[in-house]
Amino acid sequence: MPDSLPLFEQGRHLLSVSQFDRDNLQALFDMADAVDPIAKRQAVCTVLDGAMLGSLFFEPSTRTRLSFESAFLRLGGEVTTTTGFTFSSMAKGESIADTARVVSGYSDVLVVRHPDEGSVAQFAAHSIVPVINAGDGTGEHPSQALLDVYTLQKELAARGKNVDGCHIAILGDLKYGRTVHSLIKLMGLHTGVTFTLFAPPGLELPVQIEHDAIAHGHTVRVMDDVEAAVTGADVIYATRVQRERMTDELAQANARGDLLNKSILTRADNLDAIIMHPLPRDSRPDSYDLSSDVDDLPGLAIFHQTDNGLNVRMAIFLTALGVTIEAVNLTSKRRPWKATLRPV
Ligand code: NCD
Repeated sequence: MPDSLPLFEQGRHLLSVSQFDRDNLQALFDMADAVDPIAKRQAVCTVLDGAMLGSLFFEPSTRTRLSFESAFLRLGGEVTTTTGFTFSSMAKGESIADTARVVSGYSDVLVVRHPDEGSVAQFAAHSIVPVINAGDGTGEHPSQALLDVYTLQKELAARGKNVDGCHIAILGDLKYGRTVHSLIKLMGLHTGVTFTLFAPPGLELPVQIEHDAIAHGHTVRVMDDVEAAVTGADVIYATRVQRERMTDELAQANARGDLLNKSILTRADNLDAIIMHPLPRDSRPDSYDLSSDVDDLPGLAIFHQTDNGLNVRMAIFLTALGVTIEAVNLTSKRRPWKATLRPV
């Protein structure tokens, strides 16, 4: 990835959270708020009528792909998609450069996920339309960090608090988890944040990211006990062990019980904390992830994150394609149908 990328605005790729300052971050969040009636399907919108999204996911995905595609469709655009290497010509040895040039000729914007760090930037270098990074290996996942900070802001505001000065405990696989890398980098735009980190041996945060956070004036505390790590935190951000990115030995060493559950939170006297997770949550036995026994706690925000992802991804497309909120409003009308589930 180039050292310094331009700010994210119309006609630009979105490759890294480093493309944000406080102003364009706030502009994106204002746009995400403004499209809420369309995200909630209270209004239908045709502002992207005639526009085509090329969605290329060379790694597994549920919410990222479907929320990007839903976001584009909900704005009135169309979507073409390919998933996995098997069903694309990369299986025949086609280079990233050729693939990028070809598919960008069919699309107005591309969303790309790829298992290798830096590969999406390489893709962007050969594309003739804006490329949105939907995750490049252990590198970055900017749209996830954007929706995480958007959610963080709303959850903290509901408790009369701010992202500036908040205390966030980040737990789990901090080495291979790209969402954590992007989140901590994006929090560099805020001030006075305390990060308390808990990672099992071998899965610690890359030192450069920790140093950058400290250089931004944040406090970083590293703990070797989960209960101590979550004590006093306003927000707890749990993550999945990225088994697909590590050796079998390391994956085996991290095949254990819950990373976080209600009894740990009870002992830490923090049952009211805001609980976040980028998802997917690994629900298999010995997954060493967030237990579903926290799902009835008042601070559970994991599904607020997934819902907010739609708004944020709509805002990303509108920004990349240079569409103003006035144009969105002009082409929106209240929908005449209801999608509510009747009680039995
Ligand atoms: C994450 C990812 O793909 O990095 N998922 C997501 O996009 N929300 C996290 C993960 O896979 O654990």
